[in-house]
This record gives sequence, structure tokens and C-alpha cells, in this order.
Amino acid sequence: MGDSLNIRAVLRQHLETERLLGVQDVPLPSVPRVALGSAVAGRSSASPHPTATDTQSPAVGPRSSAGAAPLPETPHTMPVSPDELAARTAALKRLDDDQVSVCVKCHLCRTRTKTVFGQGHAAARVVFVGEAPGSEEDRQGLAFVGRAGQLLTQMIAAMGLRRDEVFICNVLKCRPPDNRTPADDEIAACSPYLFEQLRIIQPEVIVALGAPASQTLLNTKDSIGRLRGRFHDFHISGSPLVGPPTPLMPTFHPAYLLRSPNEKRKAWEDLMKVMELLGLPIPEKYR
Ligand code: URA
Repeated sequence: MGDSLNIRAVLRQHLETERLLGVQDVPLPSVPRVALGSAVAGRSSASPHPTATDTQSPAVGPRSSAGAAPLPETPHTMPVSPDELAARTAALKRLDDDQVSVCVKCHLCRTRTKTVFGQGHAAARVVFVGEAPGSEEDRQGLAFVGRAGQLLTQMIAAMGLRRDEVFICNVLKCRPPDNRTPADDEIAACSPYLFEQLRIIQPEVIVALGAPASQTLLNTKDSIGRLRGRFHDFHISGSPLVGPPTPLMPTFHPAYLLRSPNEKRKAWEDLMKVMELLGLPIPEKYR
């Protein structure tokens, strides 16, 4: 009984991911059991700060199907030492505990239920940056757990990754009332927390979801339509003179994709460029 419920959940997840990618005809017999199992059974950590022991063995992929010879491994997270991972995890926790969770730098502190620091792997290869918490995120204190979050989970799964292998956060750590667009003064007060998160995690690539995240990180007013689809240079140091740039891919926000499903293909094309950069395998049918 439990098994058949599991299989149904697995199949539903697979079909939804296929639909996300614009695949209409789904050859069900080719569903790889292990890969699907991992997409559904993957822990979505309730804590924004999984411990180093939770996360210390770097996840690898592509995952081979049951019984098949292991495929060449592409790390899903950065293969840092356990000490380094523990240090990054602790630094993120300190930033949240000492600064974000008690922040009163702007008036949003008066209307928030919980701050939303973001959650995921402290040595993630890819960080997804959204705009600001919505009502569900404000209630739970976790990023992207509402409807847009479900679509983001599917997008991440389609890349062959799990939510706990990436890091997910927002420009604002508090919800703007009525989910309005973040104001300039709120972004100015809050974005240093985001820059510090990126400095600690040092991802190989950043995916900026929607205009506010892309414009904040790239310090531009260009529209998301103009920015998306190609890599931009992001300087974690804040200066092009210090250290190499981190590639940043702007793409459409999942909430926009829910309203405009015809744009999903473009978002998927952006994510395939990210997969290529990370060396993640792109199934032929999705190209
Ligand atoms: N939209 C965002 O930008 N972030 C969230 O966490 C949820 C919805």
C-alpha cells in the first residue's frame, strides 16, 4: 500500500517535471527508478542550517539506475573538506542567529512573522536567489515553500539536483506586505546579508530568479527580458579588481512562470546553460 502510494507520488513528480520541460508524450516504461526515487525521497531539510554531518559527503551524479555500472561522477556539491564544510555551515548559522533573525534595519521587521534566511548546502555549487518571502515563507521561516517554491523544486529536480544540494535564498529576508515588489530602501538594507551568504558559500554559479534578484546582484535596471539567457559576471568581492567573477544566470521567476507557462521553455534553456557549465548531464530529449 505504502509502496504503491510512493510509486504514484514518484510518477506524478516525473510527469510534472516533464510538463515543466514542455514534454507532452511521456514514455513511462523508461522512467529510471533510482533517479525518480531520489527526486521524491530527497530530504528537504526543515532546518536552514543542516549540520556538517548531515551534509558532509558530497552528492554525486548522474545517478545510475539500479544494477547498472556506476556512471562517471559529477559532484552535485563542492567537494570541500569536512572542516571547511563545518566552518561554512557555522558561518551561515552565525549570520542568521546574530544578524538576520534579529534584524531591525528596515520597517519590514514590524510586519514579518519570521525572517527567512534561506536554506540548503553550505558548499552548494549553485545558489538560487529569489525576490522576497511570500506568505507561506513568512509563516514557516523557509524560502520557496509555497506554490512558486514547488515549481522551483521541479526545476531543480529537472537539473538532476535536490533542494538540499543547492542553496536557496532571497534578496529580502522579510516579507513585504501583500507581496509587493521590494522597495529600494529595503533592498539597500537587506542585500548585504545576501552578499555575505554568497561570500560564505562561494558557489560556482548563481541563478537569479526574476528582475529584483537579477537587478540587485548585477547593479542594473535592465529588464529581466534583456538580462536572461546569458551569463553575467558577479563579483563576490564587490570589485572586479579582486578575485575572479562568478557566472550569474538571470532567468524568469517561478511565480512568473506559473502565470505565463509559455515562458517555461525559455527558463529551461537558461537552466540547461547552467547545467552545461556545471558539467551536469542533459538528457537528449530535453535538449
Ligand atoms: N518568491 C520568492 O521570491 N521567494 C520565496 O521565497 C517565495 C516566493
